[in-house]
Amino acid sequence: MFARLLKRFSMNTNDQTFQKFYSTYYDLVYKNKNYTFECKRIESFLRYKEDVKHLLEIGCGTCSHSILLSKKGFNILGIDNSSEMIKVAKEKIKRKKINNITLLNQEAEKLFTVTKKKFDALLLLFNVIGYIKDLDLFLFNIKRNLKKNSLLIFDFWHEDGIKHAGPKKEIKKFNLRELELQRNSFGRKIIKDHAIKIDIETSIFKRRKFVKRFSEVHIVKYFNLNNLKEIMEKNNFELIKFEDFNEENILPKKDSWNSYCVARFLGLKN
Ligand SMILES: C[S@@+](CC[C@H](N)C(=O)[O-])C[C@H]1O[C@@H](n2cnc3c(N)ncnc32)[C@H](O)[C@@H]1O
Repeated sequence: MFARLLKRFSMNTNDQTFQKFYSTYYDLVYKNKNYTFECKRIESFLRYKEDVKHLLEIGCGTCSHSILLSKKGFNILGIDNSSEMIKVAKEKIKRKKINNITLLNQEAEKLFTVTKKKFDALLLLFNVIGYIKDLDLFLFNIKRNLKKNSLLIFDFWHEDGIKHAGPKKEIKKFNLRELELQRNSFGRKIIKDHAIKIDIETSIFKRRKFVKRFSEVHIVKYFNLNNLKEIMEKNNFELIKFEDFNEENILPKKDSWNSYCVARFLGLKN
């Protein structure tokens, strides 16, 4: 019944998801995500290269990682293909008077068409890599914006974790003054695409009275560690390490979905 209801409300691509409704409530929904701890991990990965100054964050969303990293002195270009997410990010960096983050509303795969700037490290955080439609093409194109020996750092869902425990139905509630958001999510595996399709229906209540309902769909790829390494090597990225998302210096755990990947770009082939 629950699944059928969600199916009725569902859209079929990610493209309609990251819009006005999503961007408005994004920081509320993820207010307990530990961006501070994650940024400490990212900083530790950045030590694999000397003299890192210029970061490129793809799928920066509302910029929570970049804002913390900018305070450590990095210059950052944040790009996102959702104009609504960029709008929220711009308001945040203006409010916080941050002047070392530049934002661009741009498709990750086509960044090279608008800038020739080269970066010391490329970040894709909170599973952004899973939203990239063609990873091979993305890595092929993004190389033009990377310096030789630059770092590629991202977190992703790995196949072993998903095989251990598949997606489940969840209900979460969030409160903002007199508003309450109830998010019902329902995920399922699409094995042929190596992806999880998550339908989410959010109901908004104001002073306990129903106001409106919104539905979104996320189609997020997961990766087999060996295949991921192969795609990176094909594009001249050398794997430095895969690491568990929550614990430092631990290999990806079979009972957890989330992992980090740290790799080095070996330079453009002649
Ligand atoms: C789950 S959110 C993560 C946002 C942010 N990194 C964070 O940690 O809060 C995924 C973001 O990736 C962006 N995105 C997805 N596919 C993209 C693409 N092909 N090019 C640029 N941005 C993309 C979405 O618009 C969204 O803001």
